[in-house]
Amino acid sequence: MNWNKEILKNFVKKIILDHQFIVVSCREPYLHAYSNQGVTYITPASGMATAIMPIMTACGGVWIAHGSGEADREVVDELDHIAVPPEDPKYTLRRVWLSKEEEDGFYYGYANEGLWPLSHIVYSRPTFRAKDWEMYRRVNEKFCEAVIQELHGKPGFVFIQDYHFSLLSRLIKNKRPDVVVAQFWHIPWPNREAFRVCPHGDDILDGLLGNDILGFHLRYHCLNFLETINHNIEAIVNYERFSVTRYGRESLIRAFPISIDFAAISEIASSEETEKRSAEIRGDFRVRDKWLGVGIDRIDYTKGIIERFAAIDCFLEKYPAFRGKFVFMQLGPISRIRIPKYREYNDAVYRVMVEINDKWKLKDWQPIIMKKIHLSLGEVVAYFRAADLCIVSSIHDGMNLVAKEFIAARVDHDGVLLLSQFAGAARELPEALMINPLAVDQFADQIRNALEMSPEEKTRRMSKMRNSVERNNVFRWAGHILKEMKKER
Ligand code: F6P
Repeated sequence: MNWNKEILKNFVKKIILDHQFIVVSCREPYLHAYSNQGVTYITPASGMATAIMPIMTACGGVWIAHGSGEADREVVDELDHIAVPPEDPKYTLRRVWLSKEEEDGFYYGYANEGLWPLSHIVYSRPTFRAKDWEMYRRVNEKFCEAVIQELHGKPGFVFIQDYHFSLLSRLIKNKRPDVVVAQFWHIPWPNREAFRVCPHGDDILDGLLGNDILGFHLRYHCLNFLETINHNIEAIVNYERFSVTRYGRESLIRAFPISIDFAAISEIASSEETEKRSAEIRGDFRVRDKWLGVGIDRIDYTKGIIERFAAIDCFLEKYPAFRGKFVFMQLGPISRIRIPKYREYNDAVYRVMVEINDKWKLKDWQPIIMKKIHLSLGEVVAYFRAADLCIVSSIHDGMNLVAKEFIAARVDHDGVLLLSQFAGAARELPEALMINPLAVDQFADQIRNALEMSPEEKTRRMSKMRNSVERNNVFRWAGHILKEMKKER
């Protein structure tokens, strides 16, 4: 079946019936802020939020998330609710407030200095502090209370997102064993050797086994999880069924490769406005027959931005004909900046860019332009349409939705995707030009291959990738998870 918004909507109607449908995540879909025009909002740069938003718009329900925007409190009602999307409300956002101490310990500390580097194999050492763990537990309990309130004593489906809430499903089940709980882990699950350094590993594994269904992007991550369970806590691991039984209750462990709303992005990409904007962007770079490359990421050490710049440096060294003719735009917001490692990385990215530009710059040309900004989806799509190539060079990534967004934006079936073999997306998109971000020479050669690829070859590859992403869209992802939840009911 080819899933789309309407099919998912009808499917949800049939299975939800009298059930409450609740999504929980740390990052919220809309952040309100003060501006010259009063209170406005932005949508965050988050693969998770990108995937969940179209589902909530199609299905309705309540999305519980941390209220982290500076003006968030101004716009909610007495139940901390706000109807969203703001211009055409379809579901309820319930904001949960955290104190600075809670946010520091739970979000910056345990989730992003502990679990994030633990799960991504990028040679960045995780830090585990007892006080962060305490806050992590406390915030998981706080979100549990919010879930119980939003259920209003009715039967329900609760769909939890990500590594911020590894204890939540168990807490919910302790209070409401009847509720169907699923969780999707949006980042990789590490192998058991990597996981063993986590001092709270057993609690985390036990917490996750409160889920009826636990989803990862890849079968490989499911296998890592089963292995981790097998070697750490008392439970029956069934490799035939891909399940774990603990305290007599079975949790299904399943691979659900996440995706995007392909149709919506293709529609934006085909609009006159996007055509105009992307022509404008190209105009800025085509002055002297230049090629344009683009990379769009949060500034995060897992994304391989420095490795990308090093490959551009090597490419210009090896292939002098492209000097003065290739410009690479690096776009995307600063992220998690209260964490020292992110501050250092942010500085290092800038330093490396300046060094490379100083080395190669000509009178009116420099190879890398970086804008540390948050772009609207419309702008992202316009840049994708304007570019000759897009680079996704994550050192490790659960899936990477930027790769899929680039493909959806190329309604002209043109453009080349250079994709890290260490991003989950690489399993679904073999027609991309594969790169190992740490193999700098090979990476540089792939940039040249992309720029020299024939138009027929580009179209052939892009058409195949478009077919694949169109079929395996975000509604299919959600539909498959909900089908499993329905069976649990
Ligand atoms: O997709 C993984 C993820 O960690 C999401 O949970 C998160 O929203 C996104 O990346 C961006 O990170 P953050 O919300 O910490 O800015």
